[in-house]
Parts: sequence; C-alpha cells; structure tokens
Amino acid sequence: MGSSSPPVPAAYAAALGALVLLSLFNHAVKVQGESNKKVGRQETEGCDIFQGSWIRDDSYPSYEYTQCPFIEKAFNCQNNGRTDNEYLKYRWQPKNCNVSRFDGKEFLSRFKGKSIMFVGDSLSLNQWQSLTCMLHSAVPQAPYKLKRIGTLSNFTFPTYGVSIMYSRNALLVDVIRENDRRVLKLNSVASSSKTWEKMDMLIFDTWHWWLHTGRKQPWDIIEYNKVLYQNMDRLHAYEIALNTWASWVESRVDPRRTKIFFQGVSPDHDRFAGLPFDCERWRQPLIYPGVRSKPQVVLEKVLQPLSKRVNLLDIYSLSKLRIDGHPSVYGSGGHRGMDCTHWCLPGIPDTWNQLLFAALT
Ligand SMILES: *[C@@H]1O[C@H](CO)[C@@H](O)[C@H](O)[C@H]1NC(C)=O
Ligand SMILES: *[C@@H]1O[C@H](CO)[C@@H](O)[C@H](O)[C@H]1NC(C)=O
Repeated sequence: MGSSSPPVPAAYAAALGALVLLSLFNHAVKVQGESNKKVGRQETEGCDIFQGSWIRDDSYPSYEYTQCPFIEKAFNCQNNGRTDNEYLKYRWQPKNCNVSRFDGKEFLSRFKGKSIMFVGDSLSLNQWQSLTCMLHSAVPQAPYKLKRIGTLSNFTFPTYGVSIMYSRNALLVDVIRENDRRVLKLNSVASSSKTWEKMDMLIFDTWHWWLHTGRKQPWDIIEYNKVLYQNMDRLHAYEIALNTWASWVESRVDPRRTKIFFQGVSPDHDRFAGLPFDCERWRQPLIYPGVRSKPQVVLEKVLQPLSKRVNLLDIYSLSKLRIDGHPSVYGSGGHRGMDCTHWCLPGIPDTWNQLLFAALT
C-alpha cells in the first residue's frame, strides 16, 4: 500500500484487519465452499481452473496501459489518475494445476483466419477490450484496425486474418419496437442472433441490465408466450431469456465449427458486505468470495444440460475476491461516479482471457 493512500475509515480498517487475520489461517484462498457443479466447465486434466487463489507476482501485469492506446476512458484507471498499482500485481493460481501465461502470438496463430465475437453488455466490452490489448501488446508491430459500426466493434489483425468483435447486446433476447413501445421478447433471439452466425468462437454474457427499472430500463413492456406483461420478477425473466438463448445454441450451433463460451456473472461491489463505503479504498484481494449470487446459480442451471456445447467461463468467484480491481472514481465518471462494477485495464479481465486461453488448450 502506498504511503500516499487516503486515510482509511475505522470500520474499513477493522474489516481489512479481520480479512488479513483470516488470511493467516486460510493461506490458500478457497473458492469452493459451495457445491461446485462442473457445469460444462472446460477442465484441464481434471482440474477446475476457476478454483484457486490470487498470488502476488511482480512479473504482472502482462501489459501496461501505455502499450494499449485504445483503452476506453471508463477502464483506463491509471490514465485517469489511479496511482496505486498493487492491484495489478496478482496472478490467478488454480488449486490443482497450473495455467500457462497468456501467449498472444500463439493465440493469433491458432485463430488465423477466424472470427471471434463477444456478445453482451459492458462487462463483455471489458473482456473484449482486454483481449485486444493483450494481443496488441504481444505483437505491437502488427497492424490493426478498429472499426465501429452501430453496436458492432470490429478489431482486426489483417496480417493474421483474425477478427475480434464486440456486439453490444445487453439482454441477448430481442427488443423490438412495436407501436412505439420497446417490447422485450423473452422467447426470441431471431433478430439478435443474425450477427452470431458464421462466428468461429462466441463469448456471451448478460445480467446487469435485467435489474434496471425506470429510465435505464431498456424496454417498455415484456412479451412472454405471446402474453404482454407490464413487469415480471427479473430473475425469472432472466432465466427464461437464457433458456431461449440456450435453445438457439441447441438448434443452430454446430459445436465442431463454433466454440461457445458464456462469461459467468461478473460480481459488483457496491456497498460491499453492508459496509458504509464503496470499493474505492481497497488495495488487496479479499479472502473469501461469499456465496454464489442468484443469477450465477440460474446461469449454471441453464447451462448444465448443454454441457457439451457451452463452456462456462466461471469468473464469478475469482472476480468476487477482487474488490480492489474496479475503477471506483478512476472511471469515466471521475469523482462524481463510483464504478464498482466494471474493471480497470490492465486488470481482472486479463485473467478471464488467460483462463479462456487455457480452456481452449
Ligand atoms: C505448478 O508449477 C509449480 C512451479 O513451477 C510446480 O512446483 C508444481 O508442481 C506445478 N503443479 C502442477 C500441478 O503441475
Ligand atoms: C470485420 O473486419 C474485417 C476486416 O476489415 C472484415 O473482413 C469483416 O467482415 C468485418 N466483420 C464484420 C462482421 O463486419
């Protein structure tokens, strides 16, 4: 912790003290403690790469923000004035095996001529951008092109013929304008899925926008089994939508051609553990991730019967430990915003991509 850290509130100091103490008893950070069904999870020789601990390692981060000129302001914490860098100095160590470091050159040669698409909300954007940074910093001389057309961002390495795309789609199922209302169609991905076809690898995510109400709610009315609903239990709606998405996978995806991943729910740390302050002053990983969140449980339930086709990128618990990795006041909102949802880059999504790479090996 830098000597210039802001003063910590007493409650925080006490909580941190307790966590540090806990860490003495519990040296290897545990991510189990919940029944961990191996739902469609890619395993490396019987090892669950998502169970393990964060280990301090001075050879990280794998790139500097100055090596990635296209980081969005919202994630560019150091450029926005964050001066502590302890949060960059951890690597993920699975409990029962080792994962190799991310190898950008290897990644690009493996995906030569292929198209990869991230589909989802801004957490998906976070991971897409992390991947493009990791690849660009691995081959800084290779030309790249970044094009945005509407909700699609297309990052390409022409010399490798690799496209890495991000399709913004917060809910995955369709939202269609009808009679001047935005209708959330829980039974349909017909419109959304047009951009998914022909991809060689797809990485999906959705969750956070299911919770929005009022002005931020991205629909006006919900249609489910041909009936219109003014509102609905959001977790239930989320589950229906995931099942609709899953039927698309079952009926339309050829697993020999297309690899499908689903990014586990990315945890946020607003008012974490009932403490009266946000993620801002945290400088170290936590020790215990707590129980799995409800949407994560729902996601696992939906993916389980599809285990052969969809790999769950189970980043929930390992990210839950990283309260120190959020932009807090070093995102695009600055000191008026407090972002305990997204992640700084370089940062935690780099580990998600390292594990994505490991799961492909
Ligand atoms: C992981 O790597 C370490 C250090 O190189 C080694 O000591 C250990 O045996 C490896 N573990 C496994 C499960 O391969
Ligand atoms: C992305 O860009 C590449 C290279 O310019 C192009 O071949 C590809 O069709 C683009 N993908 C989409 C979906 O527009």
